[in-house]
Amino acid sequence: MAKQTSRDFIDLENRYGAHNYHPLPVVLTKGKGVFVWDVEGKKYYDFLSAYSALNQGHCHPKILKAMVRQSRRLTLTSRAFFNDCLGSFERYATELLGYDKLLPMNTGAEGVETALKLCRRWAYDRKGLPENEARIIVCENNFHGRTITIVSMSTDPDSYKGYGPFTPGFTVIPYNDLKALEKALADPNVAGFLVEPIQGEAGVFVPDPGYLKGAYDLCREHNVLFIADEVQTGLARTGKMLACDHENVRPDILILGKALSGGVLPVSAVLADNDIMLCIKPGEHGSTFGGNPVASNVAIAALKVIADEKLAENAGKLGNIFREELTGLEKNHEMVEKVRGKGLLNAIVIRPKDGRTAWDVCIELKNNGLLAKPTHDHIIRFAPPLVITEDQLMESVNIIRETLTTFL
Ligand SMILES: Cc1ncc(COP(=O)(O)O)c(C=O)c1O
Repeated sequence: MAKQTSRDFIDLENRYGAHNYHPLPVVLTKGKGVFVWDVEGKKYYDFLSAYSALNQGHCHPKILKAMVRQSRRLTLTSRAFFNDCLGSFERYATELLGYDKLLPMNTGAEGVETALKLCRRWAYDRKGLPENEARIIVCENNFHGRTITIVSMSTDPDSYKGYGPFTPGFTVIPYNDLKALEKALADPNVAGFLVEPIQGEAGVFVPDPGYLKGAYDLCREHNVLFIADEVQTGLARTGKMLACDHENVRPDILILGKALSGGVLPVSAVLADNDIMLCIKPGEHGSTFGGNPVASNVAIAALKVIADEKLAENAGKLGNIFREELTGLEKNHEMVEKVRGKGLLNAIVIRPKDGRTAWDVCIELKNNGLLAKPTHDHIIRFAPPLVITEDQLMESVNIIRETLTTFL
């Protein structure tokens, strides 16, 4: 039988898979560190990192070792029984991040759902809000996942259109607007404020300095929980362990996902102190796979790699170099409208030219050996694995520069 080509794999997916994604036409078969290879053997820099799930790089040997070793012993118990791995994960993560307790889930969306439930329970049990009246403030252009409740908070029609009726109880305010937050907090039924420290999917919107601290202080004043969705920004991506660390803000509820497993399986978690976390009692929330032994040991390994390899420091240092290089392109590459980001979470806003858009730029980048994906038609996010070296970063910058030059 003839060897299958990229075209064959794409046709196969199109024929048998739901059409809920629009992938770049590249079929990957292998990954190592910052690189991936397609089925024809072409090598690429991965500048998406599975939306920041691969901060530790593809197939990190220490994370794989933890996964393989535990997979041979015990993979799943459900939470009907204890296992001999989950407690160690809970202790490691809570000590590292400074919280009393951790609640393990799988996907980022489940982490967000958990945080919303926890916030509502706290509001009724501790704050004393009337049953079913709790409100949670969210921001315009948020992205927190894809469940019905989460798309109920969305302002992006691609996320919510055609999926009603929606979950009530959310107040939407503009992002990066403390006055709007203060006004919304005047409602006595507000229980929480859910925010991405940098809006990733929206196109890497970095709020003004002082926004997170200001928002946190306002929440304190109003006895409202500050909930940080660090699923994309957390775990060293922006140059600190958490993006909130840039302003010394400690969220009341912290949501982590993606890189919590280094990209080898879905692991998410919600962290909070006892007065919040213990509002949820046995049997009132859970997940069959959440906190399974493999996930627990993988998560410990993934967190250790972040610390041992100083990934936050690397993201901070190389992020500054990367932005400086890209900003230099604004002057003589008319398609580059703006460069923004923090650490190694960056984006360029593309000004369409002769009908050619961010998608066309990504296709050319792919042809030149670098994978990135447009978000919202006119923005390209650049988020390589944080294990990237300075030499590799400069080679990538050259690919980006030369690609953009072909559009002049
Ligand atoms: C900030 C944020 N929250 C939540 C999610 C949802 O995560 P998942 O796709 O694992 O459900 C994402 C995914 O991109 C995200 O960026």
